[in-house]
Amino acid sequence: MRIMVIGLGYVGLVAVAGLAKAGYQITGVDINIKKINSLNNGKIDIYEPGLKEVIDEARLNQRISFKNIAEIKNIDCGIVIICVGTPSRPDGAADLSQVEYTIEWIKERTINSLTIIMKSTVPPGTGELLYKKYLAGFSYKINYISNPEFLREGQALKDWFYPDRIVIGGNNNKAIEEVSALYDSLNARIVKLDITSAELIKYAANAFLATKISFINEIACLCDCLGADINSVATGIGLDNRIGEGFLKAGIGYGGSCFPKDVRALNFLSTINGHNFELLRATIIVNSRQRLLPVQKLRSYLGNLVNKNIAVLGLTFKPGTDDIRESPSLDIIRLLLDEGANVSIYDPIRKNLNINLFRKDQIRFGKNILDTVKGTEAVVVATEWDQFIDTNWSEIKIVMNEPFLIVDGRNCLDPCIINNCGFIYSGIGRAKAHER
Ligand SMILES: NC(=O)c1ccc[n+]([C@@H]2O[C@H](COP(=O)([O-])OP(=O)(O)OC[C@H]3O[C@@H](n4cnc5c(N)ncnc54)[C@H](O)[C@@H]3O)[C@@H](O)[C@H]2O)c1
Repeated sequence: MRIMVIGLGYVGLVAVAGLAKAGYQITGVDINIKKINSLNNGKIDIYEPGLKEVIDEARLNQRISFKNIAEIKNIDCGIVIICVGTPSRPDGAADLSQVEYTIEWIKERTINSLTIIMKSTVPPGTGELLYKKYLAGFSYKINYISNPEFLREGQALKDWFYPDRIVIGGNNNKAIEEVSALYDSLNARIVKLDITSAELIKYAANAFLATKISFINEIACLCDCLGADINSVATGIGLDNRIGEGFLKAGIGYGGSCFPKDVRALNFLSTINGHNFELLRATIIVNSRQRLLPVQKLRSYLGNLVNKNIAVLGLTFKPGTDDIRESPSLDIIRLLLDEGANVSIYDPIRKNLNINLFRKDQIRFGKNILDTVKGTEAVVVATEWDQFIDTNWSEIKIVMNEPFLIVDGRNCLDPCIINNCGFIYSGIGRAKAHER
């Protein structure tokens, strides 16, 4: 069976890889010509471990082709999967312009009945609305299925091949079964339901996980007041099966291309539907506050930050990805620059920043960790890359200047090791005893 996947970002490329591996013939389509050219030259423009290997194998087996949208005149396959972006609008709502453009584009080109699978994250109610607006009564029968994606960047292939569940929402049983069959090769639990409920599962899951993070960050603040250690407290909480150990890492908060925008969109949707989702608002407020903590800590140890040299280790919103969308690190760098600090940066994967975000002369990219921290008074660890955890901190100390401050925004370092190397260690909610 031939399938078209539209939008070849983190989600689309993984869908292409996973479905090609299951034996389907896939056409991957994107609006970005540069991306298509590089895919056709065997290159992948995102960092996702293992993805290139699976795509290369599918290419060798002639299971995939990549095309720019302008090259597609007719759509004659039975299934089209939409994986385009749904970023935030300034008011917090999800911007659905890419999705709507894509549905109109499909309509103009389809020459047979087909099933549209929506993998992009769209707010609850969107599928029903899109169906009424664009698809009902169209000359070819078009089924609409909501099939939200739950993959995590950095382990996206594992999540595709071993999902916790697959959610399929639709109002036509035949189409639900057709989509369900795509995943026959996976040993996955499939949840079949209506479109709006499927859409809400995606938002509710992200909102719950984001809330768990903000909750543990609140407990971390309490730890700072009481002199307790949040990492030990989180372990003790997480061992309770009813709670679970995931998403209990205190730090500078969640970022990335999903949680922030999806939580904002759910908040917006709740408000316009007449529900004041207070818990979600608190989640957002706590998350914004956490990003300020490293700068507050730097100020409390260094005084004002004008002309202070500060290294920021980590740009991506988490390890294992090159994605910097809504990364807390960017906010921290921005605040440091506002305060007049000189900022040097290092990330093991992400080697550049969109220059619109910062003026080039305001920051320096180090060649490696040592080069980045050289001559600095303080280091902020903003992403918990293994490279930072495993680094030789004694060597770091030699090239730094007083007061040798390490602000561990991810609580990923061992405070004893850092203290023993002669640093001041300051984590988020870690026992004050460490902060000598
Ligand atoms: N990134 C994740 O971890 C993740 C996880 C689950 C769900 N999602 C959701 O999946 C969707 C896609 O996310 P992503 O991170 O892959 O986005 P992305 O920005 O990495 O990729 C989107 C792709 O769509 C392309 N595109 C935009 N308009 C197009 C059009 N009209 N025709 C063809 N291509 C077009 C873009 O060029 C881009 O390559 C979003 O709704 C997101 O919320 C993302």
